[in-house]
Amino acid sequence: MPSSRPPYRVAIIGTGGIAGAHAAALAELSERARLVAVADVDPTRAADFANKFSVPHVFTDAKALLESEKLDLVHICTPPQTHAPLASLVMRAGVTALVEKPTALSLREMDQLAAVQEQTGSRVLTVFQHRYGAAAVRLRRLAASGALGRPLVATCETLWYRPDEYFDVPWRGRWDVEGGGPTMGHGIHQFDLMLSVLGPWSVITALAGRQARPTDTEDVSVAAVRFDNGALGTVVNSLLSPRETSRLRFDFEYATVELEHLYGYREEHWRFTPASGHEELSDLWADADEPDITSGHRVQFEAVFDAWDAGQESGVTLLDARSTLEFAAATYASAFRGVPVTAGELAGDDPFTLSMDGGAVPWEPVKETLV
Ligand SMILES: NC(=O)c1ccc[n+]([C@@H]2O[C@H](COP(=O)([O-])OP(=O)(O)OC[C@H]3O[C@@H](n4cnc5c(N)ncnc54)[C@H](O)[C@@H]3O)[C@@H](O)[C@H]2O)c1
Repeated sequence: MPSSRPPYRVAIIGTGGIAGAHAAALAELSERARLVAVADVDPTRAADFANKFSVPHVFTDAKALLESEKLDLVHICTPPQTHAPLASLVMRAGVTALVEKPTALSLREMDQLAAVQEQTGSRVLTVFQHRYGAAAVRLRRLAASGALGRPLVATCETLWYRPDEYFDVPWRGRWDVEGGGPTMGHGIHQFDLMLSVLGPWSVITALAGRQARPTDTEDVSVAAVRFDNGALGTVVNSLLSPRETSRLRFDFEYATVELEHLYGYREEHWRFTPASGHEELSDLWADADEPDITSGHRVQFEAVFDAWDAGQESGVTLLDARSTLEFAAATYASAFRGVPVTAGELAGDDPFTLSMDGGAVPWEPVKETLV
């Protein structure tokens, strides 16, 4: 949506792998936002990145960046254990933090972020870019309107493949730095999208294993879930699957809606099948006036700027992200305790509010402690 206001002033902290997708998306939105500064603890990486994306100001320290620049938004693209401290720093500087997933390492950290939001009036948003493709937005609208009938069954599969070398990066595969394996780091996109469609869950029963990778964390988890609306679902998060795919399927009373893609989708990756007697729903789904918007960072950033231009709260809010993180925490708690876990049960000083492993991992660590 075009806007008459001056472009929002944006910075990126952490100029590694995913930061490139952020900078490229911001470059496509140059009328709405200017990437004015970057910071990375690795000065060479920061300088190369600034050079590549023509960013005028470069820092090796997030604090120095925040003190020197007047900003509207800071993207946090660092490894997961730095997300909550950096997001707090950004909010305390009076700026909105847009944090890469996972927002934080634990429910406790999420609640600390909520307290900082309360104190500062600033916000922390989370990158869950798959919520924002046109078909996902349409599905949420149709599901909420009741046009598809009651949701009954869902399946959510993130079947990805990561070889052993992927875990050579020191922060990967460790509870204390990455927060978890494919549940926290990879499948979280898919089940976040599922939760955005189906709403609150009530109980989870899960299993997790480390089958093959040199990690402390799980390399696969499977979960069965009941939603508040009565729907039943299954979720699989794997890094062990040579034919990779990301799949979601929703069976409503009057239609099946399916998505199969890998790291991002367009319209062609969705399939809509009306139940017999409900063929007219296909017209609602195939709305010819709607642009074919690919899921990705750009559409999420655009949605943030659209909301701000309209004077509205933008997503993905801390509350939304907490619900997704609680889903991950409950998956681990159920898997490691061997019992079902209900929503809201992980509270107070429960070990699974303090860390995703809950101090209860049934296998031995293999990674050396970082110094
Ligand atoms: N949304 C997605 O689809 C997606 C995809 C990949 C990664 N991610 C997430 O993005 C985050 C970063 O992943 P990555 O693969 O880009 O990691 P990376 O290791 O490639 O890059 C991280 C960068 O952060 C820098 N850094 C570390 N601590 C810092 C600090 N305190 N201050 C400033 N800079 C610091 C490092 O030097 C490095 O350059 C992770 O949370 C990951 O889960 C999201």
